[in-house]
Amino acid sequence: MSSPKQSAKLAMLLLVALLLLCNSTVGNVCCSRNQENSVDLHALLDFQRGITKDPQGALSNWSTTTHFCRWNGIACTTTRPFRVEQLNLPGLNLQGKITSSLGNLTFLYLLDLSYNSFAGTFPILNHAQQLQYLFVNNNSLTGIIPDALSNCSSLLSMDFSLNLLVGAFPPKIGFPPSLIYINFESNQLDGSIPNEIGQLQNLESLVLGDNRLSGQFPHAIFNLSASLRVLSLEKNMLGKTLPPNFGYLLPNLKNLSLYGNMFEGHIPASLGNALGLQLIDLSSNKFTGKIPKL
Ligand SMILES: *[C@@H]1O[C@H](CO)[C@@H](O)[C@H](O)[C@H]1NC(C)=O
Ligand SMILES: *[C@@H]1O[C@H](CO)[C@@H](O)[C@H](O)[C@H]1NC(C)=O
Ligand SMILES: *[C@@H]1O[C@H](CO)[C@@H](O)[C@H](O)[C@H]1NC(C)=O
Ligand SMILES: *[C@@H]1O[C@H](CO)[C@@H](O)[C@H](O)[C@H]1NC(C)=O
Ligand SMILES: *[C@@H]1O[C@H](CO)[C@@H](O)[C@H](O)[C@H]1NC(C)=O
Ligand SMILES: *[C@@H]1O[C@H](CO)[C@@H](O)[C@H](O)[C@H]1NC(C)=O
Repeated sequence: MSSPKQSAKLAMLLLVALLLLCNSTVGNVCCSRNQENSVDLHALLDFQRGITKDPQGALSNWSTTTHFCRWNGIACTTTRPFRVEQLNLPGLNLQGKITSSLGNLTFLYLLDLSYNSFAGTFPILNHAQQLQYLFVNNNSLTGIIPDALSNCSSLLSMDFSLNLLVGAFPPKIGFPPSLIYINFESNQLDGSIPNEIGQLQNLESLVLGDNRLSGQFPHAIFNLSASLRVLSLEKNMLGKTLPPNFGYLLPNLKNLSLYGNMFEGHIPASLGNALGLQLIDLSSNKFTGKIPKL
């Protein structure tokens, strides 16, 4: 039989033990504010399952024995509940597919999987509404789903260059209007550049060189006269004439690269109006007439 004094001591000990439990890593179980951060854990574990080869052991410390915020390539918010803000795994020879579970990382603002060997289609990232920087250049991605990025309403920069993307530059591609930088260079996209591009009022760089794009120079681009600085359409099959007032329509251009297409007619003398032009390459086209004084 224990004395009342002993029972009180025991109860006290139990209480202390419980408090300790709640404050330690086991706290995940007892505190609801950590539910969101378990969404992140599951999204990352699912992403890890999609990776079939990791020759450098880049994900060797992706184990539930340590908090995911300390895993290689992960950066989290600095306050509780710790949420994934960055997934940064460039140049590690990773192979596999990019899973749509990354779309569950609602605090993610940077996703850099460039210079790896990810294959398959780029997934729909439907809840990644904070995503600003998306770099998946130099992989082996074969497709992009038209709506994949439509919910990424904070997206500023996306780089899909040096992949194996085929088919039409998707006309209904739900590009968020926040975009400043688009790079699809060195893929196998065909068809014409969709008019919807003219709705991206913040777009500064449009880099679509080395594809199989055809049709006329996309006039919707002239809707971007205030923002557009870099226009790179080289090595495609774009054709016909450029409008004489080209340089007045895009007065802020710095880089204009149209070489290796099928443009014909005169080189617009109005290019001299774009005073900021630093690089202009119109070579390997079918332009005729005099070279204007720029
Ligand atoms: C992503 O979140 C949805 C609910 O929003 C859930 O049904 C799904 O299982 C999650 N996927 C992963 C891999 O965590
Ligand atoms: C996991 O690996 C990365 C890169 O080597 C390192 O910065 C990080 O501290 C490691 N985390 C743990 C918990 O060992
Ligand atoms: C693409 O990445 C591979 C390594 O993953 C590298 O060997 C190759 O040079 C890169 N290509 C370009 C054009 O940067
Ligand atoms: C975008 O988000 C909304 C609301 O969360 C959802 O209903 C819709 O299916 C999402 N669209 C895509 C393409 O993921
Ligand atoms: C041009 O931009 C306006 C918004 O400023 C937009 O309403 C319109 O649809 C755009 N036109 C084209 C052809 O994209
Ligand atoms: C313009 O093109 C040149 C030469 O390719 C390059 O060095 C420079 O970084 C480009 N500028 C911008 C703003 O892209």
